[in-house]
Amino acid sequence: MIIGVPREIKPDENRVSLPPDKVEVLVTDGHKVLVESGAGEGSRFSDDNYLYGAGATIVSSPAEIYGSAELIVKVKEPQPSEFELIQHGQTIFTYLHLAAEPDLLECMLEKNVTGIAYETVEDRQGRLCLLHPMSEIAGRLVSQVSARLLTNIEQGVGKLLSGVPGSGNCSAFIIGGGTVGLNAAMALMGAGADVTVADINLDRIREIDTLTKGQVKTIYPTPAALAEKISHSEVVVGAVLVPGAKAPRIVNRDMVKEMMPGGVIIDVAIDQGGCVDDIKPTSHQNPTYIQDDVIHYAVTNMPGIVGHTASISLSNATLPYVRSIASIGVEKAVTSDPGLAKGVNTLNGHITHPALAESLSMTFQDLEEMLS
Ligand SMILES: NC(=O)c1ccc[n+]([C@@H]2O[C@H](COP(=O)([O-])OP(=O)(O)OC[C@H]3O[C@@H](n4cnc5c(N)ncnc54)[C@H](O)[C@@H]3O)[C@@H](O)[C@H]2O)c1
Repeated sequence: MIIGVPREIKPDENRVSLPPDKVEVLVTDGHKVLVESGAGEGSRFSDDNYLYGAGATIVSSPAEIYGSAELIVKVKEPQPSEFELIQHGQTIFTYLHLAAEPDLLECMLEKNVTGIAYETVEDRQGRLCLLHPMSEIAGRLVSQVSARLLTNIEQGVGKLLSGVPGSGNCSAFIIGGGTVGLNAAMALMGAGADVTVADINLDRIREIDTLTKGQVKTIYPTPAALAEKISHSEVVVGAVLVPGAKAPRIVNRDMVKEMMPGGVIIDVAIDQGGCVDDIKPTSHQNPTYIQDDVIHYAVTNMPGIVGHTASISLSNATLPYVRSIASIGVEKAVTSDPGLAKGVNTLNGHITHPALAESLSMTFQDLEEMLS
């Protein structure tokens, strides 16, 4: 199969869908992989890494990729300038978020594109396995980001997370102990902070207690417990998720006002609206703003700034699916893997994902029926 890896053109996006070592696996499998020149630049992979190290074919324009690849593997949804390049019957495997992209959806339906969305692919346990790697990264970034924001240079409290002997360290409070929350907790604990996690899922807080041998404290998030913890923490992290819904606004402005001046709020759940009242999304160019004397960080695409790590981590998870689609064809790959089938959002001009159809009040076609 001919597989295409275009350069990502969405602002702030430094990832590439397939790093050279993954391309090499596909070339060894017998496929031809077209990589757009410069596609790996943001992740620090050169054209030479792809050409000599991996056996890719480097092409100079996205038109050449879309013009001949049967399978396009991307990171972010195709941008408007790419719409006209998409070919009839092509398969596109990427984060699609089609509910928020009506023009792209229309283009994909009109061109009978098989659109497989990373964000709805499930593993055998029913977990969203292609979102998981990005949550791990966002969680671990929390420690690096907060260490910087706590400094005087950023108008923070002027403290080291760990302190030094005799100075006292920082307290970090994480709301939501899932993938983001646990990764943030481990990284903050490793950096020397005192960490507490709140979650409504008692099994999860038991798990965190066992995993960290009680070093990460856990609480149940009643409003009173949240208010008490927030008022004593230099760093507050929003990491809740209610699948398929906007994030619940569980931190109110009165709680924020009780934080110490120069404290930091990192609302990782901002991509689902955020769990702090009145929080506004920010970008890597302007990642913070100050409100009620507290630094607010609400970047919607945190992994975008660690392109190298994020590209490797994402492609570790996507590679088995790419290999399967490339070796047996998309229909057989989807038929043989119900979790991958959950990722199919569009096929032959129809919406095949019930939640997508419902959210747009459009008609839905059953994928299994279409393929049988
Ligand atoms: N900003 C970014 O760049 C970025 C990157 C990755 C993930 N995210 C977002 O981070 C959020 C967390 O993702 P995740 O992968 O950790 O999800 P997850 O499902 O693994 O964990 C979410 C946790 O929140 C808990 N929860 C739900 N409601 C709660 C409440 N009211 N109080 C306390 N806990 C509650 C759940 O029990 C669960 O343990 C999601 O919104 C996700 O989209 C953002």
